[in-house]
Amino acid sequence: VLRPETPALALAPMDGITDAPMRAMQGGTGAFDYCVTEFIRVSIDVLPRKVFTREVPELAHRALTPTGLPVQVQILGGDPDRMAASALNAIAAGATAIDINFGCPAPTVNRNDGGASLLRHPTRIRDIVRAVRDAVPAEIPVSAKLRLGWESIDDIHLNAAMAAEGGATWLTIHARTRMQSYKPPVFWKKIGMVRQELDLPIIANGDIWTLDDFKQCQDDSGCVHFMLGRAALANPALPHLIRRELGLDVNPKPETDWLPLFQALVQHSEFYQHKITMRTLFRLKQWMSIAHAFGDFLLWNELKRCESTEALFANLGDLHEKV
Ligand SMILES: Cc1cc2nc3c(=O)[nH]c(=O)nc-3n(C[C@H](O)[C@H](O)[C@H](O)COP(=O)(O)O)c2cc1C
Repeated sequence: VLRPETPALALAPMDGITDAPMRAMQGGTGAFDYCVTEFIRVSIDVLPRKVFTREVPELAHRALTPTGLPVQVQILGGDPDRMAASALNAIAAGATAIDINFGCPAPTVNRNDGGASLLRHPTRIRDIVRAVRDAVPAEIPVSAKLRLGWESIDDIHLNAAMAAEGGATWLTIHARTRMQSYKPPVFWKKIGMVRQELDLPIIANGDIWTLDDFKQCQDDSGCVHFMLGRAALANPALPHLIRRELGLDVNPKPETDWLPLFQALVQHSEFYQHKITMRTLFRLKQWMSIAHAFGDFLLWNELKRCESTEALFANLGDLHEKV
């Protein structure tokens, strides 16, 4: 999936946001090389194949979105054997790449021995990665997504080394600690230090909001692989600008217009749910509120009270003509 020397741009997993319709829509923009599913939690039972089939409908289609974007399955949990057995079931369902979440800061997840809580136990990171690596076929990439540490940004050195020792194919590093939650700053230079210490691809992630941020992250980390989360929704032109900067193939007509992007999300929601539901409306509004909070989407205040998708698009059409 990922070549060490070839630049790549990934769409970040975002629980409650990057579901199958959103992944399909983002695939349609041509801006990303692959995406990662929202985390799928392995708690007291091994997850059966049908959970993966349900959560990741792309698995029935060679793990590609209907728009051709490769999808990597992300699992989360603290028990090596259950994680390994669940990963095998994901493969049986059609997964072609597995990512392991060591970054989720949600208190319920962390209290139950998952996500970022493992950052306090580096050897357990190694054991989990190793168990999954040993269980699945050699050609299946097994990657790990880490924050820098629980409290200290210096913990990334050992945490990343342990994930590498466990046999991770690549690491994605969100350059802040669990205690920081989503608060600035991000420490891209730490990613660069880890990249020099380890001999595997490192994907840099966190707070790339503008092209200048991207260039700074590139300088600080020395990476050629990047992952973009919230800015993919807040600033849909940005991934295309980043691709150009990376020398990757560029969509000749990058979609920077909001309306067709929102329409594409509705079409993909309809495809997966067979009709337009309140969930579609909720997801559209969620996207618009992120684009309002972090980007330059100016119409949110006029649209947030719309009670149906039809009303939303009617208003959007009217407003669109004015701006
Ligand atoms: C709402 C939300 C949900 C997220 N869910 C996940 C998740 O399921 N798995 C994961 O590894 N990271 C998750 N993340 C973290 C993102 O993948 C990413 O590391 C983080 O947002 C920083 O990147 P960004 O600044 O480009 O958004 C989530 C982030 C947000 C904002």
